[in-house]
Amino acid sequence: MDDRGLRNTFSARLKRVAARPEVVPIEFDGQKINVRRGGTLLGAAMKNGVRLMHVCGARTLCATCRVVVESGEDNLTPMRATEKFSLRWHLSVSPRTRLACQARVSGPVEVESVFPHCGELPNESLRGT
Ligand code: FES
Repeated sequence: MDDRGLRNTFSARLKRVAARPEVVPIEFDGQKINVRRGGTLLGAAMKNGVRLMHVCGARTLCATCRVVVESGEDNLTPMRATEKFSLRWHLSVSPRTRLACQARVSGPVEVESVFPHCGELPNESLRGT
């Protein structure tokens, strides 16, 4: 392969990589974080210091990792039967509610957790009074 061919191959590859960046910006409880494309919302939260509850260890049993998708729901993988069943079981039937341990990110999204984070009290007035 001559110089020109090598240059063209390299620039084509650069364009492909630029078109599909592996890092996706998301907003989790108002905190802007970068996550790996294809990773779960729970994994993204844990890697970025967002202490989202996940009592069952991502087995779709507890639904404590529940989040409400504020925007970008099309950038999450479709809901599988086990996730639907779990959300129905826990009476979370809103189409905007997802399990963070199951939803995988493919683009920018904005989510809010349903439960307080680990180690946080839900009401500020309960702290240290
Ligand atoms: S961690 Fe239990 S359902 Fe997601």
